[in-house]
Amino acid sequence: MNSSRFADRVVLATGTASGLGLAAARQFANEGASLVLVDRDEQSLRDVVVELSGMGANVVPVVGDVSRALTAQEAVRTALSQFGRLDVLFNNAGIDPLEATTLVETTEDLWDSIINVNVKSAYLFAKEAIPAMIATGGGAIVNTASSAGMRASAQEAAYGISKAAIIALTRSLARDFSAQGIRTNAICPGPLEAITTDRRATMSDEQKAARRERVSDLVPLGREGTYEEVAKSVLFLASSESSYTSGAALLIDGGLIA
Ligand SMILES: NC(=O)c1ccc[n+]([C@@H]2O[C@H](COP(=O)([O-])OP(=O)(O)OC[C@H]3O[C@@H](n4cnc5c(N)ncnc54)[C@H](O)[C@@H]3O)[C@@H](O)[C@H]2O)c1
Repeated sequence: MNSSRFADRVVLATGTASGLGLAAARQFANEGASLVLVDRDEQSLRDVVVELSGMGANVVPVVGDVSRALTAQEAVRTALSQFGRLDVLFNNAGIDPLEATTLVETTEDLWDSIINVNVKSAYLFAKEAIPAMIATGGGAIVNTASSAGMRASAQEAAYGISKAAIIALTRSLARDFSAQGIRTNAICPGPLEAITTDRRATMSDEQKAARRERVSDLVPLGREGTYEEVAKSVLFLASSESSYTSGAALLIDGGLIA
């Protein structure tokens, strides 16, 4: 263990069965956190729990859909019953369906699921987590937005709108709860090493290769970001190293929209 910024800290993180959530969960575990991990992918989540427990971390899974109030309630209840407190909430689960292109092409069902999974979830989890954090003197919330929430990406309208809403939700929470010791910040990653699982599942190999090529042309740093690089910023915003930062939307995009 290199450092232990999260020793005695309890972290609740969503979307941790793969990608960014998994990379952040590994780093939190490596720095001494106790973890409640939420995902709808039961098998992969169980594999993650075995891996992190093997590192010596205290980890409890909650399997469920983050857009449902019951999942948020169960997750916060689990943090309190298993570990007695909640210090960090990482709202990270998200979807980016390939079929949801322009608003005209986006079906109402797709719109609802993108807004529910990407935005309503953060409202539900914050609503449950904040009273628990206030009870022990405060905490930190980190929300996963996207560079697409700052500058519209073509053919990805509802997703970009959901991520702009997450930035606004972050600022509202910072306004309303910083005085009670809860800092809320967002991360805005640019294109990462893999696109979200749901989007990847419907893309052809040619489409994936074209994306990689487009990214290396567009991003000033000339490549996609890694999940580990972005997770480091999540831990920074969740830790006391960022003690004067609340309401920020941190771009981690290789200079894409500079
Ligand atoms: N990959 C990128 O290029 C990129 C760029 C910017 C922002 N992001 C954002 O980062 C976050 C993580 O993305 P990722 O790349 O790690 O994708 P991912 O698909 O690897 O991980 C998302 C996780 O969330 C889970 N999940 C999805 N819907 C859920 C639901 N309704 N209930 C519970 N769990 C659910 C999935 O099972 C998965 O484990 C997302 O919010 C995404 O929008 C990703």
